[in-house]
Amino acid sequence: MFGNIAARYDLLNHLLSGNIDRRWRRRVAKSLYATLPSESHRTSRILDVACGTGDLSLMLFERGEARIIGIDFCRPMLEIANSKALKKGSSIPFIEGDAMELPFADRAFDAATIGFGLRNLASVESGIKELLRVLKPDGKLFVLEFSKPCTPILRSLFKVYFTKVLPVFGGLISGSRGAYEYLPDSVSHFPDQEKLASMMTEAGFDEVTFENLCGGIAALHIGKRPD
Ligand SMILES: C[S@@+](CC[C@H](N)C(=O)[O-])C[C@H]1O[C@@H](n2cnc3c(N)ncnc32)[C@H](O)[C@@H]1O
Repeated sequence: MFGNIAARYDLLNHLLSGNIDRRWRRRVAKSLYATLPSESHRTSRILDVACGTGDLSLMLFERGEARIIGIDFCRPMLEIANSKALKKGSSIPFIEGDAMELPFADRAFDAATIGFGLRNLASVESGIKELLRVLKPDGKLFVLEFSKPCTPILRSLFKVYFTKVLPVFGGLISGSRGAYEYLPDSVSHFPDQEKLASMMTEAGFDEVTFENLCGGIAALHIGKRPD
């Protein structure tokens, strides 16, 4: 599915969100660098899981000096990520691999991010545990994902937009209406803010917090791997 929409994925993201997706990824990068000790920025290793076309990896590259690796299992998405990285003068390695079985040693990364990816995994619980495995003690996970709008009015408006408007425009522009019907469907089955926070805690993360973005349309969850 992601292979079919790869060529139009970025365009549709920016168009259908009115560019708000960029602001959300910037928020992740800002929070992440704020939590890394400044003296270790250059030596820190960050893994961006389900990196897709690399927008979050590249945002992390532009806003700091850490060493970033992107991983995704969809080659057409990775090819776009690679060509964008070349244009931006970044040498981020974009690796083909499965988020459910990351090809990295335990405790390898200072931080990990997953932007609009967790919802797509075969098991959210197992995906969170796999992310925990590759983090160093005190390493942090940043999950950016669609969530539950906080007010009934926003929920209704969002539902109409997501289920009626988005599949039509997404389908027309990408040529794959199914992918843009899958999006609202997958969001409706994804745990809300509180539930995701408790799943992260149950998986073994400490100090789990979340921040609502745009009234809860999306949320940024952060958790720390204990010692
Ligand atoms: C909605 S895109 C998000 C891409 C990017 N993180 C962003 O912020 O735009 C979801 C991505 O998750 C990837 N994905 C889904 N399941 C995966 C898995 N098990 N392993 C690796 N990547 C996966 C897809 O290939 C796709 O590129």
